[in-house]
Amino acid sequence: MIIVLIGYMGSGKSTIGKGLANVLSMNFLDLDSVIEAHEKSTINDIFEYRGEIYFRKKESELLRKVINEQDNLILSLGGGTPCYSQNMSFLSDIEKVRTLYLKSSINTLSERLYNEKEHRPIISHLTTRDELKEFIAKHLFERNAYYEQAQSVLNTDNLTIQETIEKIVLELF
Ligand code: S3P
Repeated sequence: MIIVLIGYMGSGKSTIGKGLANVLSMNFLDLDSVIEAHEKSTINDIFEYRGEIYFRKKESELLRKVINEQDNLILSLGGGTPCYSQNMSFLSDIEKVRTLYLKSSINTLSERLYNEKEHRPIISHLTTRDELKEFIAKHLFERNAYYEQAQSVLNTDNLTIQETIEKIVLELF
C-alpha cells in the first residue's frame, strides 16, 4: 500500500507523514525532496531559474515514477501536486494507493505559514498577515476541488501531531 498525504502548504504533510511511517513501519518520502534530489537544486531555485511550468512537469514525472516503483510507502505531496497534470486521476486509478487530505482552516494555515513564507515561492511575495490570509482563502477555494477528491478527508485543526496520526490509523485500518 502507498498512503498519499495531500494538503495545502503548512498542513503538516511531512511531519505527519514521517510520524505515520514510524508507527506503521513503512517507508517515507516527501515528493518535494525527491524533486530536489533529482534536480540537484532547491524548490526555490527551480522556481526562480527554471520556472513553475518546468517544476510542475518534473513534479508529475517524479510522482508517477515513485508510485510505479515503490510500495509500503507514505508519500507526502507538495501543496500544488493534486492540482496539475491530472495527478489526482492518476492516483485514483492505482489500486495500491490510498489518498488522504489533511484539511486545515485558513486561520491555522496563515498563522503557520507567516513565518515560513520565504522558503515557499508561491507565497514569498506576500508581505502582511492580511495579504497572506486573503491569498490562502482564494487559493484554497480553487484547490479544494482537487483536494476533496481524496478518498479520506481529515480535519486536523485543534489536533496534535500524535492525535492526527492516531486518527489516520483509525481511518485506514
Ligand atoms: C507548492 C507547495 C510546496 C512546493 C512548491 C509549490 C504549492 O510544497 O511543492 O513550493 O504550489 O502549493 P509544500 O506543500 O510541501 O510546502
